[in-house]
Amino acid sequence: MMTEKLKKAREYEEKYARFISDEERPAYHLTPRIGWMNDPNGFSFYNGAYHLFYQYHPYSLEWGPMHWGHVVSRDLLHWEYLPCALAPDQAYDGFGCFSGSASELPDGRQLLMYTGVREEMCEDGRKKTIQTQCMAVGDGLNYEKYEANPVLDETSLPAGGGSRLDFRDPKLWREEDGSFACIVGNRTEDGSGSLLLYRSEDGFHWNFETIVDRSYNEFGKMWECPDLFGLDGKTVILTSPQEMSQSGLEFHNGNGTMYLIGQYDREKKHFERESLGAIDYGIDFYAPQTVQAPDGRRIMIGWMQNWDACVAPSGRSRWIGQMTIPRELRIVDGKLQQMPIREIESLRGHRVYHRMSLCNENTLQGVFGRRIDLTVTLTPSEEESYERFRIRLARGSRHYTMISYNPKTSVLKIDRNNSGCCRDVVHERRCFVRQQRGRLKLRILLDQYSVEVFVNDGEQALTTAIYTPLSADGISFEVDGRVDLEVEKYELRS
Ligand code: FRU
Repeated sequence: MMTEKLKKAREYEEKYARFISDEERPAYHLTPRIGWMNDPNGFSFYNGAYHLFYQYHPYSLEWGPMHWGHVVSRDLLHWEYLPCALAPDQAYDGFGCFSGSASELPDGRQLLMYTGVREEMCEDGRKKTIQTQCMAVGDGLNYEKYEANPVLDETSLPAGGGSRLDFRDPKLWREEDGSFACIVGNRTEDGSGSLLLYRSEDGFHWNFETIVDRSYNEFGKMWECPDLFGLDGKTVILTSPQEMSQSGLEFHNGNGTMYLIGQYDREKKHFERESLGAIDYGIDFYAPQTVQAPDGRRIMIGWMQNWDACVAPSGRSRWIGQMTIPRELRIVDGKLQQMPIREIESLRGHRVYHRMSLCNENTLQGVFGRRIDLTVTLTPSEEESYERFRIRLARGSRHYTMISYNPKTSVLKIDRNNSGCCRDVVHERRCFVRQQRGRLKLRILLDQYSVEVFVNDGEQALTTAIYTPLSADGISFEVDGRVDLEVEKYELRS
């Protein structure tokens, strides 16, 4: 039976989303059907198509009582909107259906697991929000919440710690033996983040297994939106810690993202951490989630915004929030690498190629656009070194987004101070590029309101949303000194 709240959300999006034209949206990045979107949820392959859900408040351009929006795709580039999947319509989730994930039951039904949040009044008049884990079952279109929800509550927390106020974002998967497992974000008694692992035979009755890893106040506080999967012989954990403290150029203050690579020993219930790092070094990236494609690739998608820099451009459109391009993951030398999914090549249209020795500033014939796939390779020239290299993208008379590189310090910077956002939030980020000696390869994806930079075949990524008017589509290259430059540009079709 469909509740009034879900019916209302479905009617609202059906009635008003059609007033958003295709031109107001990016070409191959997902935006909400209408209203507000944050985290990707329930990224899964079900009945022959990719399903993606998202944290959704259809009624405004602000975060509000969370619903789950829903889309499907065959190629991870073109998404079809389906009706809103979940609404906050029960006593245990009336404050919101927070982030979660999806899997499949043995009988072929789709299984969703999410955080139900309810509000409780304290004695002193303050309100607390209590978080529990809940299930819903459906056919890829309509979902029924499980009658015995919640399936995990404060009684499921590990002894001697755990907080019912911060207990969220279950990521669910099926083991090879058919049983289910999930990893959930939580807080330990020291006030910082931890990740809890639970197991279930049927997907509905869950038992606590262990605390897989925790922050010990070293990598931020609450660890949000965890994910856990096997990749290249290792166990990889992704999480998005809140309240991080800056650490060199690896982690910045506030909401960050982090991967942990190691080995999870199921017998010993122990995760041996071997390495860790930031997932993305740009401004707008948070809460990534992965899916395993039928061909075995591990594919990650993230929210292309961050709480600390999330700005709604006034009067632009009736949507806010984008997802990143889905990215293929791999491990190289103990580090997580990522590149855009290869499916993007199917959108490539007209190609332009230039090879030159660059000095001063230049624009290149045919190199412009806001929906492009651009690869820029720098090789220091034999006779002369270079000091600083800059690319200005989405460039108009008053606007540009700049990517600059200093070969002496190996620091790469993304700067969107002049990218149409007049709010005083973070507009610059830097990272250390690992390869030295001035060689640099950048793959840059532009799609109307975003710039995603992949460094040296995926060693690092920097992602940022931009707010620049679409008429600003110029690109220029500038160097102090001289450098050999190769530029390959493809227009991208919708
Ligand atoms: C992360 C997050 C999650 C939560 C959701 C609420 O961005 O804070 O922890 O489930 O957003 O919308």
